[in-house]
Amino acid sequence: TKTPTLAVIGGDGIGPEVTTEALKVLKATVGEDAFTFVEHDLGAERWLRTGEVLPEATIEELKASDAIILGAVGAAPGSTEIPSGLLERGLLLKLRFLFDHCVNLRPSKYYPGTASPLSSAVLEQGPIDFVVVREGTEGLYCGNGGAVRVGTEHEIATEVSVNTAFGVERVVRDAFERAMARRKKLTLVHKHNVLVNAGGLWKRIVEQVSTEYPEVTCDYLHVDAATIMLVTDPQRFDVIVTDNLFGDILTDEAGAITGGIGLAASANINTTGDFPSMFEPVHGSAPDIAGQGIADPTAAISSMVLLLDHLGRPEDARRIEAAVEADIAARGDAKRSTSEVGDAIAAAVRG
Ligand code: NAD
Ligand code: IPM
Ligand code: MN
Repeated sequence: TKTPTLAVIGGDGIGPEVTTEALKVLKATVGEDAFTFVEHDLGAERWLRTGEVLPEATIEELKASDAIILGAVGAAPGSTEIPSGLLERGLLLKLRFLFDHCVNLRPSKYYPGTASPLSSAVLEQGPIDFVVVREGTEGLYCGNGGAVRVGTEHEIATEVSVNTAFGVERVVRDAFERAMARRKKLTLVHKHNVLVNAGGLWKRIVEQVSTEYPEVTCDYLHVDAATIMLVTDPQRFDVIVTDNLFGDILTDEAGAITGGIGLAASANINTTGDFPSMFEPVHGSAPDIAGQGIADPTAAISSMVLLLDHLGRPEDARRIEAAVEADIAARGDAKRSTSEVGDAIAAAVRG
């Protein structure tokens, strides 16, 4: 059997820093030779140097890989050198669309020991363990909009959310399957009181698919109320299914309540197996702390858990998961560097 190839895109800011630690832990778990790693020099520096964001030849190489590991891309929000979103849209979103990453899976689990901002009263309500199944290829992310009379006082700017029955149904089905393997509870989050067309479609599809999953208890929350529940009663959630933008926002909040965005992992999954899936932390390039060696690599490391599960290596996945859990439990207030955290978790998986 052929050694699987993993494409690696460190990217910008803390992206390469946390990716180094993720690869360290991955290799400590499966050995140096289980995968062939191919690093791709992409991101802000490449663009500034060559004007290329994602060359055609690179797309072909990525397509031929078995999975993609991404750090983060994107310049500082105030950057004058790099147009806002150039790298995010030209690379990250482009890969999600090209490789049909319809399921953006974002698990959240509270491990005792993490610095959750939730009150102890809320934490004592019980374990927090849910996944957000965020749609990854549609919604407001399609670039479907435009602007006229730009710069005048009559400017009109539109972004139109695209929701197809096909696209919604496949992600809803995936969410029901995940609910069956978990606590059998599914919450649709949308805003169908205002977004009647898209919200109506999501609601109807969840109702239709739910008839095939009588064991799964379904409920619904408007997205604004969902942001409250995440803070007051996060234990109520098992599987959340939602659209692209709501899922983006809710998963940053989910990261924050379960110990910080530095812990939140994600998988961009191609459910047909036609294209490689992509594994990355939920967070971005964090320009405010880049280059200091202080970024938390745990999110990037935990995305290796999702990668190994995806590649059919659940035992290896569980080893990293256990090592991360133990490392988090042992964290006190001591500040460790990015590489110290990676070294500790790598040592723990070696046993
Ligand atoms: P961000 O996630 O990069 O940072 C938000 C805050 O969280 C910052 O204070 C940062 O220091 C902190 N943070 C993030 N990751 C951390 C870690 N591992 N350890 C400790 N602290 C961490 O979000 P932002 O500031 O809105 O975006 C910065 C850039 O990243 C932008 O260009 C944005 O478009 C891009 N971005 C990229 C991705 C991606 O590539 N997947 C995701 C989100 C944002
Ligand atoms: C994420 C990021 C991206 C998104 C940006 C950088 C385009 O915030 O992966 O959560 O909005 O999906
Ligand atoms: Mn985001």
